[in-house]
Amino acid sequence: MTIQSITSRQILDSRGHPTLETTVHLDTGVSGTAAVPAGVSTGSHEACELRDGDAKRYFGQGVLKAVANVTGPIAKAWQGQDVRDQRALDRMIIELDGTVNKSALGANAMLSASLAAMRANAALQRQPLYRGIQQTYDLPAIDPQRLPRPMMNVINGGRHAAGGLIIQEFLVVPNGATVAERIARGAAVYHALGQLLRDQQLSTLVGDEGGYAPRLPEDSAALDALSKAILAAGYATPADVGLAIDFASSTFYDPATQRYQYGSTKGGLTAVGMGGLLAEWLDRYSIMSYEDPLAEDDWDGWADLTKKLRQRVMLIGDDLFVTNRSRLARGQAARVANAILIKPNQVGTLTETIDTILAAQEGKYTIVVSHRSGETLDPFVSDLAVAVRAPFLKAGAPARGERVAKYNRLLAIEEELTG
Ligand code: PGA
Ligand code: ZN
Repeated sequence: MTIQSITSRQILDSRGHPTLETTVHLDTGVSGTAAVPAGVSTGSHEACELRDGDAKRYFGQGVLKAVANVTGPIAKAWQGQDVRDQRALDRMIIELDGTVNKSALGANAMLSASLAAMRANAALQRQPLYRGIQQTYDLPAIDPQRLPRPMMNVINGGRHAAGGLIIQEFLVVPNGATVAERIARGAAVYHALGQLLRDQQLSTLVGDEGGYAPRLPEDSAALDALSKAILAAGYATPADVGLAIDFASSTFYDPATQRYQYGSTKGGLTAVGMGGLLAEWLDRYSIMSYEDPLAEDDWDGWADLTKKLRQRVMLIGDDLFVTNRSRLARGQAARVANAILIKPNQVGTLTETIDTILAAQEGKYTIVVSHRSGETLDPFVSDLAVAVRAPFLKAGAPARGERVAKYNRLLAIEEELTG
């Protein structure tokens, strides 16, 4: 059960940028492999993603230095260690890195090793990954009747698409007794939406997360299209299929003027102005969730907005919390948001990810486990979502290989758990 060696390589993510795939080899011959994703609307408080900066190769995006950190210092530290003690392994590399934001080893390097070790550990114990995670961290039992509900990003805007929408993501959140039923509903709405766009001679080309990227007159037209597509697919909102939005609002916030560059108001909107728009949309559409409606450091705006809307809608902090326990603690103290997006690569190790989840659950924040816009075929987040009993898994559209890998993994887990 001890770690013998670690191999790592540079591979490409779904956007064609380099990322790492790492394998932890045990002395018994068992191994575990994991690949890390990458975001593009990254929060400025995320742990550091180490990139080579060699402008002549991959536009500076190479990860060969990170690979070398895995096969060098991390492998050296872990050689001979018991793979079953994931907490100790992660603690070792956190100390080895020694920085607040993981800029020495790189959070991408660290996470690839951390996740690969967890896979090797689960393989060693001949357990599926979700069970391995649950037992390693001594988490409560998984309820097969309450597996995660998908949050499917079916219209892509912002930095994920060239269609011109300011808002980054328009999502459908299918309900249903089983994962299989939820995924079928989500796919039906996705295709109904495609048909609706074709009928209006709008583009059905897709963005980074597999959602359509039509050129629409304004963002609210996306909500109208989605509401229609749900009906066209034969479903009702919110009972069968809910609507959700990820504003990724740090991408259109100007800290100098403290204004959101949104809407027709000259000079943009204040946080209170954004709040007015958010409330109006809740009246007009059956929206169940707003992610990053305000910017990552607009704590006062967030506190005020949470007070006004927390009873009506899920308010998810993504760039706000960056899966970071101390930022979450600040949010909890100030009664900011009521849900947290969980992206392991924002923080850099599995153990820190789990500890943030535990703190959030303790504080009654809803857990939404998430992919990134740049993905690989690795469905680690699906097992993670099941292991921590997350009510939601956000993994893009029900289309494109790297997105459906996550949903297909959920289907397999459901089958395994319910027999
Ligand atoms: P990212 O976007 O992976 O490009 O950061 C996803 C999100 O904002 O939720
Ligand atoms: Zn987000």
